[in-house]
Amino acid sequence: MSPKRNALPTAPTAHVVKAKEALKTVADLDHAIWQGDAEALLSALPAQPIFDLVVSSPPYNIGKSYEKKGALEDYLKWQERILDLIIPRLKETGSICWQVGNFVDNGMIVPLDIEMAYIFKKHGLKLRNRIIWHFGHGLHNKRRFSGRYEVIMWYSKSDDYQFDLDAVRIPAKYPGKRHFKGPKRGKLSGNPLGKNPEDVWGIPNVKANHIEKTDHPCQFPVGLIERLVLSMTKPGQLVFDPFAGVGSSGVAAALHGRNFLGCELIANYARQAKERIDAALAGTAKYRPHDKELYDHTKSKLSQVVLSEDEEAEAA
Ligand SMILES: C[S@@+](CC[C@H](N)C(=O)[O-])C[C@H]1O[C@@H](n2cnc3c(N)ncnc32)[C@H](O)[C@@H]1O
Repeated sequence: MSPKRNALPTAPTAHVVKAKEALKTVADLDHAIWQGDAEALLSALPAQPIFDLVVSSPPYNIGKSYEKKGALEDYLKWQERILDLIIPRLKETGSICWQVGNFVDNGMIVPLDIEMAYIFKKHGLKLRNRIIWHFGHGLHNKRRFSGRYEVIMWYSKSDDYQFDLDAVRIPAKYPGKRHFKGPKRGKLSGNPLGKNPEDVWGIPNVKANHIEKTDHPCQFPVGLIERLVLSMTKPGQLVFDPFAGVGSSGVAAALHGRNFLGCELIANYARQAKERIDAALAGTAKYRPHDKELYDHTKSKLSQVVLSEDEEAEAA
């Protein structure tokens, strides 16, 4: 899928809303980032179902620059308060995609999707997928295998949920495969639109040389959210991210004509979110689409060991 390249001169722009009094009006803006605390924003929004898709990566309580590491129990209670405020504001046809990793306690990992499942269960939400987001780079562990995936818990509010698989199909492995028996014998057997992207997604995480890199320490790759936005919403619908960071969810929404409401505590990130969403609305955002093939690392010079003369002599 490609962004809107030819922007109209009157392309809309995003707004950073700061004043407390403006809280009630943010939901009326097409693209807004409220700079403040997520609980405060949610408490002030009308308790009506307005969100079509909620997608977020909350602070993980692992001591990143923007968070204070606390007891797991307190963290879970805080997340529960946030989700208790979000779920009544989610439409019956809507979905929540909560993206989490592990809480690490003295080298022991605690997968947050398992710890948080009770909150969604309490509200009667229905788990549709536990999407494994697999990426190539991260810390190298010495006392356990290095972690290279995180989880997106996809819950729908009801059985009547929106899902457009055709919008996110990816190229099939064997598009030339044909039926070998029966009435369709000899005919192509795959879906001409491509295959289901399945529930393990290999999408590069945003590290130093990524096209989308900002100074945020753990931003979403836009492609990860793009796949959720395209499959779970329609143009004109509302995507909400309570921990918006530099607005990657807002970029994915804006690229595809969806509206966006985000909340971010830190002013610098909220400002960058606005700039990135504006670029997406103007058709100038640089991003890596969800269906772009992974780089074949064997093509890199670094995949071959070329010995220096000294090293050759040493090896001889
Ligand atoms: C894991 S990051 C999300 C990054 C985001 N997905 C992106 O692509 O940029 C979590 C964000 O939540 C913000 N945050 C932390 N506590 C918050 C709160 N109480 N209310 C709103 N935002 C908060 C942090 O500043 C951080 O940018």
